[in-house]
Amino acid sequence: FTPQTLAGKRVIVTAGGTRERLDPVRFLTNDSSGKMGYAVATAAKQAGADVTLITASTKLTAPAGVTVVPIQSTTDLSEAVLAAFPQADALVMAAAVADFQPDVTADQKIKKTADNDELILKLKKTPDILKQVAAIKQPGQVTVGFAAETQNLLANGQKKLVSKSLDLLAANDVSRADIGFNGDDNQVTFIAPNGVTDQTPKTSKTMIARALVDRVAQLLAEK
Ligand code: C5P
Repeated sequence: FTPQTLAGKRVIVTAGGTRERLDPVRFLTNDSSGKMGYAVATAAKQAGADVTLITASTKLTAPAGVTVVPIQSTTDLSEAVLAAFPQADALVMAAAVADFQPDVTADQKIKKTADNDELILKLKKTPDILKQVAAIKQPGQVTVGFAAETQNLLANGQKKLVSKSLDLLAANDVSRADIGFNGDDNQVTFIAPNGVTDQTPKTSKTMIARALVDRVAQLLAEK
């Protein structure tokens, strides 16, 4: 990992949890802090890459020198990723993308009324961005996904890798309270398409991001 590791490479990183709007003042989101994605953007920048950080709203400050594209919903994220991907060498999808979005977003604030004791929300599946990317992926491009699992980490990870045509998947067990979503530390299992797995020690998201950047550089060199 040096300032030359990704020199001349264009890398897109997505980060944070998407917001799916119910009405002008309410949305559905998740626990993602964005820390893992920001750590990857920082590491890629330090490794000499030209970095585009497509980010949902977070409390974090973007690393200096990266191009920031703010997004809110999965639909926004999908549009931004699909627009940037054709010019990119690598995409790291660290964003925690919603699985479902409201079927309709109300134009006005949803009101409670005296005769309504319940509100039933209809949600529909979001588009799978990595699957859309897989359809336009060129042979020289590298794509990396993250998977937050609470069970069968390896089997579920392997399935995702194949279904999303990924070169690498970083899987983490979010049922553990000491790592993952919000914390500064993480522990991931890197899964390669040939089934080879490699578990990192529990360490800072910074160190995991550097290991990931090294792997992206190696994958690009092999293409
Ligand atoms: O299927 P699952 O959400 O567990 O897969 C996780 C990976 O897929 C992450 O890299 C996430 O950013 C990406 N993803 C996506 N589009 C979705 C949901 C997840 O690209 N709709």
